[in-house]
Amino acid sequence: MHKIFKNGSILVSSEAAMVALGREMAATLQGGEVLGFVGDLGAGKTHLIQGILEGLGAGNPAASPTFSLVHEHADGRVPVAHFDFYRMKSADEALGMGWDEYLTGGSVLLVEWADRFDGTLMPEDTRWLVLKHLSATERSVTLAE
Ligand SMILES: Nc1ncnc2c1ncn2[C@@H]1O[C@H](COP(=O)(O)OP(=O)(O)OP(=O)(O)O)[C@@H](O)[C@H]1O
Ligand SMILES: [Mg+2]
Repeated sequence: MHKIFKNGSILVSSEAAMVALGREMAATLQGGEVLGFVGDLGAGKTHLIQGILEGLGAGNPAASPTFSLVHEHADGRVPVAHFDFYRMKSADEALGMGWDEYLTGGSVLLVEWADRFDGTLMPEDTRWLVLKHLSATERSVTLAE
């Protein structure tokens, strides 16, 4: 069980607990959801996503021409595409590698640094997850609309 703060944020007390939270979140995904992960370097975005991938039963990403920009996992309960906008120089670069097609393609989209480019690439119904450092080993995770 995770501790929940009065404001609804979840206290995550270790790296392993972050992965476990991701595994729990995976159960809520049916396909087509867009999740935007926001937080400083080392906030735990990749660990949370690793848990989601584990929970979906997604294995290693398939190699593709755009592998450095997106990791696609087709072997889990639902297909997933994992993006890291930190790796992209501009919104145009994302659009040029087919972002619009991903939005309508039915995969779950997991996007690190989703607030880059002023969040303009993210759809209205994005589920935002805000991660914050509380201490060396503690993070908070807040779900926002
Ligand atoms: N409670 C915690 N949850 C997640 N990671 C933690 C926690 N406590 C310590 N850590 C450490 O913080 C780091 C989190 O790294 P991670 O790559 O998940 O962050 P990130 O938000 O994806 O960073 P980046 O912006 O560089 O992609 C790891 O070194 C991990 O061991
Ligand atoms: Mg990361």
